[in-house]
Amino acid sequence: VTRQLSTSVGRQGPVKYLTVIGSGLMGSGIAQVAAATGHNVTLVDQTDDILNKSMGNMKKSLERVAKKKYADNPKDGEEFISGVMGRISTNTDSSKAVEKADLVIEAIVENLGVKKQLFSALDKAAPQHTIFTSNTSSIPITDIAASTQRRDRFGGLHYFNPVPMMKLLEVVRTSETNDETFNTLMEFGKAMGKVTVPCKDTAGFIVNRLLVPYMLEAVRLVERGDAAPRDIDVAMKLGAGYPMGPFELSDYVGLDTMKFILDGWHERDPDHPLFKPSALLNKLVGEGKLGMKTGEGFYKHK
Ligand code: CAA
Ligand code: NAD
Repeated sequence: VTRQLSTSVGRQGPVKYLTVIGSGLMGSGIAQVAAATGHNVTLVDQTDDILNKSMGNMKKSLERVAKKKYADNPKDGEEFISGVMGRISTNTDSSKAVEKADLVIEAIVENLGVKKQLFSALDKAAPQHTIFTSNTSSIPITDIAASTQRRDRFGGLHYFNPVPMMKLLEVVRTSETNDETFNTLMEFGKAMGKVTVPCKDTAGFIVNRLLVPYMLEAVRLVERGDAAPRDIDVAMKLGAGYPMGPFELSDYVGLDTMKFILDGWHERDPDHPLFKPSALLNKLVGEGKLGMKTGEGFYKHK
């Protein structure tokens, strides 16, 4: 029996006002693409300095998009960029920033305690109809939603880095997410130009459950002295058709993020052989070698 998904967006209606909390790698990408697809976005972070940096990064990314999209008409490209930037406002007060929101997407640090503290405050400040979501890579959405009184209006929106380029959006439904919320999230993902796949609230959803153990198995090959990172990267690009090898991708994603994901899964399922900690990953993170964002990870970056 094929189940037909309702196309109705339910009582909540389409998302007009979006608040993105956390303006790092992911939050800035999400804000940028949402604004480029006509949504009004409020972007939140801890300081104006961080927000100014993010606005600069979004502008650079939009320039790359415009260079291709408006190759024959740079003037239209400039208008496109200023139009998108004009739909993004910034705020350092997350409670104020959700007062008008239809949807909140959280993309702050991968830490359950910090996320719960944030959502518990937002729950008191946001209107009844506001849907809450997290972009977490590895924490159960159900655990984050437990900090609020709106577990039925809570789901996961899991984006991929770099957000302007990656077409996929995983839409995570917990056992408590109601139909209206889930349908609104699927519609919102499509309105953002993404291909949406529904996921249950299980470790790593779909992509990370397959991708992260694969990347860690590559690290284990190196730890055993079976192959060198550069050779493994060449092998996976040319032998499996991946756009980046596992070490290039680890540096791109961030080794701290990789470690957060692995440690969380290991804590929840200590006997799982694919979730065992990696000495090499721990060493690099301990030395502050987090990948592209710090200039060095498995590789040195200029
Ligand atoms: N913003 C805008 N445009 C961008 C961009 C960005 N941040 N990054 C790349 N592009 C575009 C540009 O048009 C660029 O051309 P220019 O350099 O002329 O501007 C074009 O893409 C091609 O880029 P590159 O030549 O630098 O490299 P590429 O052809 O290898 O493409 C890539 C880049 C799309 C990132 C590709 O390498 C790729 O798909 N890599 C794998 C990424 C991946 O697997 N991501 C998922 C990570 S897991 C995750 O995110 C989940 C999690 O929870 C951890
Ligand atoms: P990041 O470190 O680049 O950005 C996080 C931002 O959140 C920082 O700017 C920080 O100042 C801000 N922040 C922290 N606490 C805050 C608070 N209480 N209020 C407001 N802002 C706060 O991290 P990222 O890579 O963008 O990851 C963000 C989230 O997205 C994490 O949950 C991560 O697991 C997930 N994710 C990451 C990737 C990836 O490839 N890096 C992919 C998908 C999902």
